[in-house]
Amino acid sequence: MSHQSDLIADDIEQYLQEHENKDLLRFITCGSVDDGKSTLIGRLLHDSKMIYEDQLAAITQASKTSGTTGDEVDLALLVDGLQSEREQGITIDVAYRFFSTDRRKFIIADTPGHEQYTRNMATGASTASLAVILVDARHGVQTQTRRHSFIADLLGIQHLVVAINKMDLVDYSQERYEEIVAEYQEIAGKLNAPDIRFVPLSALKGDNVVNPSESMNWYEGPALLELLETVEITHDQNLRDLRLPVQYVNRPNLDFRGYCGTLAAGVMSPGQKVRALPSGKVSTIERLVTWDGDLKSAYPGDAITVTLEDEIDISRGDWLVAESDQVPLASSFEADIVWMHETALESGKLYDIKLATRDAAGKVSAIDYQVDVNTLEHRHADHLDLNTIARCTLELTAPVPVDDYRSSPGTGSFIIIDRLTNITVGAGMIHQPLESELPYEFRDNDSKANVVWNRTSVTQAMREQLNGHAGKCVWFTGYSGSGKSTLANALEVELNRRGYHTMLLDGDNIRHGLCKDLGMGEADRTENIRRVGEVARLFAEAGVIVITAFISPFRSDRDAARELFDDGSFVEVHVDTPLDICEQRDPKGLYQKAREGTIQDFTGINSPYEVPPKAEVVLDTMSHNQQELVTQLVKVCL
Ligand code: ADX
Repeated sequence: MSHQSDLIADDIEQYLQEHENKDLLRFITCGSVDDGKSTLIGRLLHDSKMIYEDQLAAITQASKTSGTTGDEVDLALLVDGLQSEREQGITIDVAYRFFSTDRRKFIIADTPGHEQYTRNMATGASTASLAVILVDARHGVQTQTRRHSFIADLLGIQHLVVAINKMDLVDYSQERYEEIVAEYQEIAGKLNAPDIRFVPLSALKGDNVVNPSESMNWYEGPALLELLETVEITHDQNLRDLRLPVQYVNRPNLDFRGYCGTLAAGVMSPGQKVRALPSGKVSTIERLVTWDGDLKSAYPGDAITVTLEDEIDISRGDWLVAESDQVPLASSFEADIVWMHETALESGKLYDIKLATRDAAGKVSAIDYQVDVNTLEHRHADHLDLNTIARCTLELTAPVPVDDYRSSPGTGSFIIIDRLTNITVGAGMIHQPLESELPYEFRDNDSKANVVWNRTSVTQAMREQLNGHAGKCVWFTGYSGSGKSTLANALEVELNRRGYHTMLLDGDNIRHGLCKDLGMGEADRTENIRRVGEVARLFAEAGVIVITAFISPFRSDRDAARELFDDGSFVEVHVDTPLDICEQRDPKGLYQKAREGTIQDFTGINSPYEVPPKAEVVLDTMSHNQQELVTQLVKVCL
């Protein structure tokens, strides 16, 4: 190496010790080859003397054949290492590069700038504390500047440095620089990052990269490297909360039980009271064990093994948090997802979701909106293609502790894995929990607390694939005698004839078995419909089209049944026969009995029927015959 510190020659031990204790800044460079990104990185490595002599000789030679800088050494060749990159003139993957100065060590995540590499940029940004956003001084703020800033911000990067490059090509004009700064302020207003700075530079000529520029005396701020060396990042860490996701339970013998993991947030010390999640059990930290001996305190990023004073049941995936930390347990949450695979995200499909060290199963139940990464506008989407970013609602099969990504990135993020191929197809950042559970303090009294959800290996999607169609529920509602059972039956006959797998749940029949303990009072009807909804869901999960025929007079009961199904797989059918016609028909003589007062709570006579305000289908049995109504139903159901 072309020599970096005098200490290397004078006192190598001292140098190595200093080097080991230097802090580390991870940063990402965003921009395309046209903005001079590779040249900038090459310049940082070159001017900070991090290039081997033979590397320099090699790129001097290569500059003559494939360089783009005339007689000057093309420093971009230093980082565009891959042959194909050189030939196409673009950077194609995330490359991590290391360099150091007397003050700090640096890891650069060098990611490509084009939109089709959004996933690479998100990957690089996920571990970075700072982003250098390159802008070509000639072109000013571009669509990609907006995109890069948004992605960096989405990944929670708190320090943005807008590097206005190629100042040599605009005559080092202060006016042009200020114009671009003003343009960027518009984007800055939409970002969360608290620290945004601007540096005018020329990577090609070396102005303000490592050495201050003589051509831009009007700029009083630090050169880029000085800024990188001095930016304050220790405060970025979350020391407020305490989070240790348990990666491994170490039990080498009966006398030792340690919980291993990397501290994601907070400061942990022996004597501290901690709570295990999701169980909610409390104990005290006994020791913080490491290879180099016990620690007095551990900080975020430290890999530790914790022993506790009490034997409480903790497994891989559980978290240790401070006793007073109120962490919600939720099985559904909102998150921003970056989709990383050619096969689009399907909502409703079951994926493996890895949150910190926990493996869970779940689905995206709704894509709330997709973000146009160029304009930051929100738009509707029913699937997510490669490199898209969207705010989604996720549902897991069991509740887990949930953190907000912005306050604790280590525990607030997750990856999505395809269950069949085992490939990571997406990454997500949690925004907020939805419907969080009871606080764990009270959960011992909750009968569900000790019941876990056992995941099945064969999924609804797999069953549906075998059946050749999706499972769903067609829910008939209407007065007694309106024609529900007759029409439900006719629909099933037609679906069966067409080769669909079906099941019909009929009110009178179910009341002979599953619900024979229930009467016709309000509470019993509610329970009746709740059971039927659950059974219908099981049939739908089996990939069957389940048809139900119940009066189901109360709107809230029907809505609760609807809630059990994904959007689009619950079809409410209101058999809208007027009450007086039902009474005239009175097929079972029940209306007459109700009028005579021999049966109580009869719907329409002395118990209410709440008309569905937004049924998917309303059947007019007065003006259409059965065949027409079945045709109408088949169209909506299939
Ligand atoms: S629901 O209200 O709980 O949905 P469900 O459809 O199961 O009612 O049962 C209704 C059937 O029970 C009717 O078709 C009728 O044959 C019979 N029945 C007996 N008593 C009553 C009553 N009081 N009100 C309505 N239906 C009744």
